[in-house]
Amino acid sequence: MGISRVAVVGFGTMGTGIAQVFAQSGFEVVAVDVSEEILRRGVETIVSGPFGLRRLVERGRITEEQMREVLSRIRTTTNLAEAVSSADFVIEAVFEDLEVKRRVFRDVDAHAPKHAILASNTSTLSITALAAATSRPDRVVGMHFFNPPQVMKLVEIVRGLQTSDETVEVVKGLAERLGKTPVVCRDVPGFIANRVGIIAILEAIRLYDQGVASARDIDTAMKLGYNWPMGPLELADFIGLDVLLSIAEVLYRETGNPAYHPPTILKRLVAAGYLGRKSGRGFYTY
Ligand SMILES: NC(=O)c1ccc[n+]([C@@H]2O[C@H](COP(=O)([O-])OP(=O)(O)OC[C@H]3O[C@@H](n4cnc5c(N)ncnc54)[C@H](O)[C@@H]3O)[C@@H](O)[C@H]2O)c1
Repeated sequence: MGISRVAVVGFGTMGTGIAQVFAQSGFEVVAVDVSEEILRRGVETIVSGPFGLRRLVERGRITEEQMREVLSRIRTTTNLAEAVSSADFVIEAVFEDLEVKRRVFRDVDAHAPKHAILASNTSTLSITALAAATSRPDRVVGMHFFNPPQVMKLVEIVRGLQTSDETVEVVKGLAERLGKTPVVCRDVPGFIANRVGIIAILEAIRLYDQGVASARDIDTAMKLGYNWPMGPLELADFIGLDVLLSIAEVLYRETGNPAYHPPTILKRLVAAGYLGRKSGRGFYTY
């Protein structure tokens, strides 16, 4: 199936990056969010953000003319029905809340063409549960980008219980057209990367909390011993400690595996407003 028109629902951190990646790869993109102000800020991020188009121009990676072309392929609207009415592919990146997402999937399903594939960028929610809100569960799939989508190569393609082989193949091909490397997995909590990575990060937090080693030394051990480009505590600060806590809580609840039990120190840091890089302080001070 040929995909050329894409709708991105939710134009926040991930939605803006995903829209940019699609537009840079030649797709026509319509982005949807709930207010004109959010849409305006989203476009500004795509132009001037840390991974935005202006940076690419400054680094000589694209020309001014190419930047204008990419931007001309991105349209924004607050009207979901209109945005998805001619889309071949819809990707949802709204808040990580099952009820909010199910409502979005139901509305998208009602207005998108029958052939359209509906994807979610969820990190922790079940694709099968989202698919159940639609009349086309065979064409619902997870397409999990990592932050920042403009930079990170990995895309996890998540196969819900009813997702068809054809849908998986189309979305794998789509990820490749974006210059990404797709991996395919079943619909389990945390998929692959978070399922493994979050345990390591939480274990690093426990070692830190027990005074086994300093944050620096824990990070150095993993960078030099395991060739991680960032240490687990640096990574925690980068992800955001509030985001990390909520992922750990979901994985603990869903799997019952005590390795995901959120350490008290993580809860206290979040309660204090020490959320990592974005708040200027987490395991490190920025
Ligand atoms: N931030 C990350 O590191 C990261 C990484 C991978 C996946 N994700 C997933 O991506 C999704 C989005 O996360 P984010 O960090 O970009 O969140 P965000 O809060 O930055 O953006 C969410 C956007 O969705 C909009 N929105 C909410 N309800 C809507 C609706 N009904 N219709 C249209 N827009 C609506 C909000 O106004 C907001 O702009 C979540 O499912 C999250 O789990 C996040």
